[in-house]
This record gives sequence, C-alpha cells and structure tokens, in this order.
Amino acid sequence: MSTIGALLLSGGKGTRMGGNTPKQFLTVGGTPLSMYSFQLLSSLCETVVVVCSSTHHDIFPRGTLFADPGVRRQDSVYSGLRALPPACDWVLVHDSARPCLRIEDVRSLLEVGMKCGAAALGVPVKDTIKECNDAGQVVRTLDRSTLWKIHTPQLIRRDWLEEGFEKIIREGATVTDDVSIAEWLGKPVTIVPDHATNIKVTTPEDLPMVEQWLATVS
Ligand code: C5P
Repeated sequence: MSTIGALLLSGGKGTRMGGNTPKQFLTVGGTPLSMYSFQLLSSLCETVVVVCSSTHHDIFPRGTLFADPGVRRQDSVYSGLRALPPACDWVLVHDSARPCLRIEDVRSLLEVGMKCGAAALGVPVKDTIKECNDAGQVVRTLDRSTLWKIHTPQLIRRDWLEEGFEKIIREGATVTDDVSIAEWLGKPVTIVPDHATNIKVTTPEDLPMVEQWLATVS
C-alpha cells in the first residue's frame, strides 16, 4: 500500500508582500492562510510535515510534525523531506501561500501522479508569453498553445525526489518547483488541469481575490 507524506511549505519570508507577517500567516476569515491547506492535506494524507520557523508553530494543532525552513524554497523542501517518516513513499509538496486549492483537484493529482511517478497541477496559459533580454527587447515569442502555468500541490515518488536532490545538490542547481527535480533525472512529469482560483498570494493585490473565494466556500 502507498503512503503519502505531505510537505506544507510555510517557511518563506514573503518580502514581496510587505509587512511583518509572512504572507502564509496573514489572517483571512479569522484563519491564518496556511491553515486552509493544512486542513485539506491532513484530510487526504497519512502524514503532514509543516516547514516553518518555530515562531509560528503555535498556529498548528498539538502533535503537528515540523521541519526548519531553508534559505531557498528547495532547501525547505529538502528539510521537510528529511523529516518525513520512512514509510512515506510518495511526497506531496504544497505552497501554503495557495490557500484556495480544491479537494477534487488534489484527488485528480494523486490519481494521475501515482500512475506516472510525478505530476503537478497547472492551468493553460491565457496570455502571450515573450522571452526578453536585459534591455527589455523581445528575444522570442513562445508558442502559447504548449504553455502551462504550474501550481502546487505537486506529487513525486520519494525515491525520485531523493535521487534528484542528490543530483541538484552535486550540480549546484536551483529549481523553483518540485517536479523540476524529476525532470533533472529525465523522468516523465504529467500536468493535471487545476482551477485558476488556486492562486499563490504574492503581492497585496492578490489578497482580495483570495478573501472573496475563501468567503464563498466557507
Ligand atoms: O517565495 P514563493 O512565493 O515562491 O514561496 C512559495 C512557498 O514556499 C510559500 O508558501 C513559502 O512560504 C514557501 N517557502 C519556504 N521556504 C523558503 C521560501 C519559500 O517554505 N525558503
């Protein structure tokens, strides 16, 4: 039987948001943002490890498993991975700054990901995307019909994540999401369609959308 361990990333400083409270702990509807996905992941996964600084541990229920955050997002994932019980053979990584995820999308991700080894939620790109140089000049226009915006959660086989971390640490690589680690190993990664409402709170203008969505579902 497969066992899924979730890593809830709550270790960022949220500098683009401004203010003293990291964005994942801002309160919406009386609840810190991180708690929305903590509750959802706890209902689906055998184990949840929260990666966050000890100053925020008291937000979570007694008995919660914690790991210390690292400097970069990938360092926090690595720290959480080492805190997962050995029985967890699948790792589900989620940014707690995305509180609006839907349980049916996470279920689809788990179903697809457990068949193919690595999968992420994402949405097709709506805008035209151009690659530019430092002077702001267009280098090329990408083919929009093949582009996806990648969200979290992302599911990956634990042995792939461990092997991939060995490789990226050896090569000094930086990755901004988790299935990239499987890509580094040359493993196939599948994208599972998500809802566009699963946005990541990054700057202050993201908050009203999240407040509105959370108010409609609670
Ligand atoms: O910075 P970014 O928006 O990409 O962060 C995505 C998620 O990763 C957030 O939930 C943030 O708290 C977490 N993070 C972390 N450790 C870091 C950087 C980000 O846990 N060093």
